Amino acid sequence: MDFKAQLQQKTEYVNKMLKEFCPAVEGYQIEIFEAMNYSIEAGGKRLRPIFMMEAAGLFNGFDDSLKPFMAAMEMIHTYSLVHDDLPAMDNDDYRRGKLTTHKKFGHAMGILAGDSLLNYAFETCADAVVMAADKEAAARALQVLAKKAGAYGMIGGQVVDVNLSGKASTKEQLDFIYEKKTSALIEASFMIGAIMAGASDEEVKKIERAAYAIGMAFQIQDDILDVTSTAEVLGKPVFSDEKNDKTTYVTLFGIDGATEYVKKYTEEAMDILKTIGKENAFLNELVISLINRKK
Ligand code: IPE
Ligand code: IPE
Ligand code: MG
Ligand code: MG
Ligand code: MG
Repeated sequence: MDFKAQLQQKTEYVNKMLKEFCPAVEGYQIEIFEAMNYSIEAGGKRLRPIFMMEAAGLFNGFDDSLKPFMAAMEMIHTYSLVHDDLPAMDNDDYRRGKLTTHKKFGHAMGILAGDSLLNYAFETCADAVVMAADKEAAARALQVLAKKAGAYGMIGGQVVDVNLSGKASTKEQLDFIYEKKTSALIEASFMIGAIMAGASDEEVKKIERAAYAIGMAFQIQDDILDVTSTAEVLGKPVFSDEKNDKTTYVTLFGIDGATEYVKKYTEEAMDILKTIGKENAFLNELVISLINRKK
């Protein structure tokens, strides 16, 4: 099977799995379940759960015990997008080709749907820890997820991103923002896959570094697509960064300069990946394909 077909198969697998973990739409609070499922089912590339599965493939492989963590990661990522789009943050109306959650369900439901997705992720993982055969590994995975999603991780990056909107920022400030807002969840994805598949502490440290570089490349490419793509292709508005007066790698280095950084970080990630665990040809191809991603 070629790379494209494999990626499609894996994406469909994640979509099917996510459905199993989504909450039932019922009860007096039914609207919150509709809003949670709306944002999850709107789609997205599902890269983080796929990274998690492929990181496991570098070690003892993927089994059912990883599934709740894959689902939880996509829930947390989706909540971060739901809140990122709110009027108080980037104020965007489209996401994953559909109206943003707050546009569809109102501001209050947008906030609450994000809150519930975040909490539901931890409900899902807590169940996983209780049921896991290797409780120590599952608890460590939960620890990584909690830390990388919080104020030391993704939220911390969003805080500085928002605070520096409308101001000129330095490369050092941008690097802090990108490491936190984008790399942190990608690091957690790789680390959790590795931990649940029996990687050593040293191997987990290495994979964290590779994932950091993948995340940096991913966010810089996101900046590039914000000025070079179209809303139809992206499923979200273009020129969102300009609208919010944000400094990005494109404003600092131009499109060509930013593209060089995407390549540099990808090379760094590939160099590290080659030294960890087993060979995973699909993962290698996936990481390289992101340099030229169009959405
Ligand atoms: C968007 O992430 C937010 C960033 C960190 C750049 P993705 O580009 O992975 O979004 P989806 O999940 O495919 O919608
Ligand atoms: C978002 O960065 C990172 C998150 C944690 C959500 P952006 O604000 O650039 O993401 P998009 O472009 O809206 O997807
Ligand atoms: Mg943002
Ligand atoms: Mg945004
Ligand atoms: Mg962006």
